[in-house]
Amino acid sequence: MPHPRNPQTFRVKSFGCQMNVYDGERMGELLAAQGMRAASEGEDADLVVLNTCHIRERASEKVYSDIGRLRRDDDTAPMIAVAGCVAQAEGEEIMTRAPSVSMVVGPQAYHRLPGMIEEAARGRRSTDTDMPANTKFEALPERRRAGASAFLTVQEGCDKFCTYCVVPYTRGAEISRPFSDLLREAEKLAENGAREITLLGQNVNAWTGATSSGRSLGFDDLIRELDKLPKLKRIRYTTSHPNDVTEGLIRAHGEVEKLMPFLHLPVQSGSDRVLKAMNRSHTADSYLRVIERFREARPDIAISGDFIVGFPGETDADFEDTLRLIDTVGYAQAFSFKYSPRPGTPAATMERQVPRELMDERLQRLQAALNRDQLAFNQASVGRRCEVLVERRGKKPGQWLGKSPWLQSVFFEGEAAIGDMVSVDLAEAGANSVRGLLLEPVGA
Ligand code: 5AD
Ligand code: SF4
Repeated sequence: MPHPRNPQTFRVKSFGCQMNVYDGERMGELLAAQGMRAASEGEDADLVVLNTCHIRERASEKVYSDIGRLRRDDDTAPMIAVAGCVAQAEGEEIMTRAPSVSMVVGPQAYHRLPGMIEEAARGRRSTDTDMPANTKFEALPERRRAGASAFLTVQEGCDKFCTYCVVPYTRGAEISRPFSDLLREAEKLAENGAREITLLGQNVNAWTGATSSGRSLGFDDLIRELDKLPKLKRIRYTTSHPNDVTEGLIRAHGEVEKLMPFLHLPVQSGSDRVLKAMNRSHTADSYLRVIERFREARPDIAISGDFIVGFPGETDADFEDTLRLIDTVGYAQAFSFKYSPRPGTPAATMERQVPRELMDERLQRLQAALNRDQLAFNQASVGRRCEVLVERRGKKPGQWLGKSPWLQSVFFEGEAAIGDMVSVDLAEAGANSVRGLLLEPVGA
């Protein structure tokens, strides 16, 4: 272990999903509340928190190369904390393999970082991968800063046990955060500048709660309650499971104006045989029917998804089924991955693992289809007039970047500021972004 001292500055580096980004922000706020300061760009930090992801092999290998890069043999070496899902899954192994790591802290225990840092400053390494009954949320300081678009974790963990997935092991069982806490956090975020909130959860639409008077609430009720916050202009959510979609959520898409016309609904495969082996508990058809119902409620809704190619036993015919499903849906955007065996999951030991080259070839074909559809979606939006939430400056002087209601990246030139909602005409489509022409601003 490097030279013990009390860190004054910190840097949190988050990998993986948006929930990790959210956790990273909250760790930063916690450290700031302890009197530490975020290191500025280019400045060496006294403490580096690697907030890791375990979802696929490539993601989890990153942690060791990052630790290697931070190593120094003199006293300029930073104190290193490994957090996130690799910490949860491989805590002991990290401690053994990487002596320069001072502490390992799981995604449900990071509120205990201050104590662990104190220990490390005294030269003692520690590991905390507890999943305590009193959640970390109760121990974290209130939200103080927010960008134009903010994340809010409302639900964590997963009880679905898809056979390829580590999440039930790294994030634990499904839990919903209490309604009153969420309302308060959303209010704070809106007060601090958030115009859009994306509600996060591994199965976000499985969220349940109750009002202070005991009325029980579903995920759609949560959306309708947040809709009442005047400063908040947009609501999004991710990720959903097809089986937890309710009639109420579908209806909300037709009725709640602040709820954006966008749905990320992973399907993983278009083959019922593969879906069964994945333990997805839906079929290609039942998935398509869910999408249809969303489209009936909100015809312009943009659909996004996740795909895995090369799941054990996937045949050419199975893969063709996936391509067919993609053609049927017409995704506005989607994520696709090669299957990666994760230690401890049932699929890792299944027979008929698909050879690498075949996976590569299938992924290429799949991504070509998805890219084609994404460009087509963007092209079809040209001529639409819509609101854009301005999130940051573009690369060129006078240029701004923001998101359309359909989550397209839109760039435009003219008078604007971060957090503005501006009206644009969508004028020119690329594969990854759309050029907008600014109309008059409609207020911040
Ligand atoms: N291999 C490849 N992709 C995976 N995903 C989850 N686990 C694996 C795995 N073992 C993908 C799924 C999921 C997304 C977050 O990551 O598509 O929806
Ligand atoms: Fe990665 Fe899943 Fe953990 Fe997110 S929850 S950081 S995707 S392993």
